[in-house]
This record gives sequence, C-alpha cells and structure tokens, in this order.
Amino acid sequence: MKVTVIGTGYVGLVTGTCLAEFGFEVTCVDKDKAKIDNLHKGIIPIYEPGLDRLVETNQNKKRLFFTTDLREAVAKADVVFIAVGTPSDPETGRADMQYVHAVAKEVAVNLEGYTVLVTKSTVPVGTVRVVTKLVQEANPSAEFEVVSNPEFLREGSAIEDFMRPNRIVIGCDTKRAEAVMRELYRPLYLLETPMLFTNPESSELIKYAANAFLATKIAFINQMADLCEECGADVQAISKGMGLDHRIGSKFLHAGPGYGGSCFPKDTLALLQTGKDFNAEPTIVRAVVAANDERKRDMARKIIKACGGSVRDKKIAILGLTFKPNTDDMRDSPSLDIIPDLQRAGASIAAFDPQGLKEAQEHFTNIEYGQDAYDVMQNADALVIITEWNEFRALDLEKVKSLLKIPTIVDLRNVYPISEIEKQGLTYHSIGRTALDPSCDTVIKSA
Ligand code: UGA
Repeated sequence: MKVTVIGTGYVGLVTGTCLAEFGFEVTCVDKDKAKIDNLHKGIIPIYEPGLDRLVETNQNKKRLFFTTDLREAVAKADVVFIAVGTPSDPETGRADMQYVHAVAKEVAVNLEGYTVLVTKSTVPVGTVRVVTKLVQEANPSAEFEVVSNPEFLREGSAIEDFMRPNRIVIGCDTKRAEAVMRELYRPLYLLETPMLFTNPESSELIKYAANAFLATKIAFINQMADLCEECGADVQAISKGMGLDHRIGSKFLHAGPGYGGSCFPKDTLALLQTGKDFNAEPTIVRAVVAANDERKRDMARKIIKACGGSVRDKKIAILGLTFKPNTDDMRDSPSLDIIPDLQRAGASIAAFDPQGLKEAQEHFTNIEYGQDAYDVMQNADALVIITEWNEFRALDLEKVKSLLKIPTIVDLRNVYPISEIEKQGLTYHSIGRTALDPSCDTVIKSA
C-alpha cells in the first residue's frame, strides 16, 4: 500500500515517518521547499525525541520520501493523509480551514484510481462531508472516499503514542474504506490496539471531546490546588486520592500553571464554536477556558507575593519556557503570560530552557538567556520553575542557595518534596501544597 501525507508539520511528519516504520512506502509532501530540502539532509523542523533517527532509518531503507510535487505523490497513492494546519481564528477561536480546503481541491484533480483521503488534522465536525463535496466538485469522475482519523499524539512522546496507541478512531461510511484503514493499522494488531469505527461526525467530535475533557481535568485540579492553599490540604494527596478511583484515573491531575500548547487552548475554543453552530454550547468547556486564562495570570501574582509583594528592580530567574518538557514548542505556554506580567511589574528576567531558547527569542524582549540552569540564578531574588524538564528535577540545592541573592524558589510544577527544599534553608512556594509531616509528604503507603 502506498501512502502520501500532505503537510510535514508535527502531525504529518510523525504520521508519515511512523507509517514508513510499519513498512509502507510513504511520501511526505510540503510546499515549503526549504523544509523538504532540509528533510532530505536529515534536518528535522521540530524537536521530537527519536524522530530524527526514525526519519534517517526509513529514508535509508527507501520507504520514506520527501517532495514538493503533490501531483505525482497523490496519483500513485492508495491513501492520502491531509495533515495541514488548522490554526485558531484570533477573533472567533474557530478552526481556520483554508489550508485543508485548498489541499482537498489540489488533491482532487490529481487522484488516480480508488483512493482514501484521510483527515488527520484536527478538524471541526462536518469536515469529512465538506471535503467530500469539494473533491466531487473539483473532479466529478474521481473514485474516492474521505474518512476521519484523528491523532492523539502528545508532543514529546509522539512516536510512542503512534506506535502504541490507546486506540485508533476511524470515522467512515463504507466497508471498502474501512478495509483500507484496517490494512493500514494492521501492524498494531499484535498489540491488540482497540479500533473504533464510527461515523465521520462522531470521529471528528471524539478528538475535541477528548482534548476538552483532559483540559477540564487540569483546570479542575488547578482550582482544587487554590482551595488547598486556603484550607491546609495538599493537592498531590488530593490527586492521588482521586486518581486511585479507577473511574477517575490518576493522569492529567497534576496541578500547575495552566495548560498550554498547540492543542488544548485551540481545540477547546473550536469546540465552543461548534457548540454555538449547533446551538448546544458545552458551558463546562467555556468555564474551563476562562479558568485556564485566569490561572496563567494568577501565576505572576503568586510569584510577586512570594517576593514580598513587589518585584520592582528585582531579578527573577526562570527555568523552563516551553509549554511542557521534551518539546521546543512555546505555543500558548504559561511563560508567555507570566514573564511579561513580571516585566510590567518591574522585574528583570534571566531565563533558561533546554530546547526552547531559539523560539523564545521570537516572543520575549529584554530577557537575559543563560547557558544552563545555574547560569541564570546568580544574584537572583527568586528562582521560578515554570516547566518541569528532567534536568530541573534534581538541582544541586546547596549550589542553588549559594547562587541566589534571596533563597526563594517558586515551583509551579511541584517537582520537589517540600521537606527536601526546606531542609536546605530555602523558602519554597509550590502549588496547592502545605508542609506535611515529612514522613507522609504525599507518599502513598499501602494499607
Ligand atoms: C495533547 C493531548 O494530550 C494529545 O492526546 C493530543 O493528541 C494533542 O494534545 C493534540 O491534540 O494534538 P499535547 O498538547 O502535546 O497533547 O500535550 P499534553 O501532554 O497533553 O499537555 C498539554 C498541557 O497540559 C501542557 O501545558 C501540560 O503542562 C499541561 N498539563 C498536562 C498539566 O498542567 N497537568 C497535567 O496533569 C497534564
């Protein structure tokens, strides 16, 4: 089976590369010639652990090809994935479908023989129907079907998520298209990956519902953290106590500075628009979006409070700028709200991030960047951890104390046990935690 993937962004590149790893012949298409030239040389446009090696192996094995020539790639394909961007309209939050529609029309006129078109981009309910109509109009004799197959890849663990998914969701109308999609994902058969076949509308909505639900869990635990800070409870104990109930589950209950990234903020807004379109607005999701926006602003206030009520003329050392670890992605990162708020309050900022420094320079002004974590701490009035990169989890606390002017740590990801930090004589502010008896510092003991 020959597969073509249109769009070599995050989703397209991971999907194409992993399908090549399954053994299919995959051609990835992008209009951006510089990007394709770089991919030929093994230069990957994003930071995703393990992706460079997989691209190289599959290019060498002649299973993975990169081209700007959409025409030839589509003509030979049995399956064409559409994996181009669907950015948020800044005014409405609606997913901007212009790139998907343009690709659909271009693909239509180049189809040869029965072809399954797969929408892999996160697209609003009804897109399969719209794309079907566009292709029919552009090429009335084309033999094709459009199916929905949403991705559930997390940045930083995308290859693992593709190779060992919790489930595959396919929205299609016919047994013929279903058979093609089954064949495509057959390599996952041994892992007994559940495959859910449903209609296109359900498949499209599953993607938004899943992301909105995960965002809801995060917003919920963040509000519990606020409550914990007021009433003397500990949010990590709350997460564990809730998560041990199998109906709730322990994942996505880590309190923090609010969710960011290219998906949750965008997809929750797009889901609200879909709700409006169908006169069935999910008001819970509206509350989640508002709570998360407020959360990011609250974090700057928390840091200012930890610095004695003012950061004017103070130096704040920041560790972590990306929206989460193991990515260079800064999109909707909490740091984008927190740092400008601190600067407006008069602070000077010194920051370090293991992968995000290049992108950070496009977003921030007047920041001093460090070579490593310790570099930024020298003479700082507080150290703030925004992103929980592994290398910030085991800092040499004695060294930290010696470098800081004021020995204060504000940890927005709860990476340290309170007792460990306070033992070093550092003042520690974290999220939703109180200093418990060290012997039960959020450790779960069996009954
Ligand atoms: C998310 C979903 O997890 C993927 O399943 C989905 O495919 C993807 O969006 C997408 O739609 O493409 P991603 O945005 O890469 O993946 O990252 P997550 O690991 O889900 O984290 C999102 C945000 O939530 C981050 O800012 C993270 O720090 C935050 N988060 C996550 C918390 O604050 N607490 C948690 O317990 C978990």
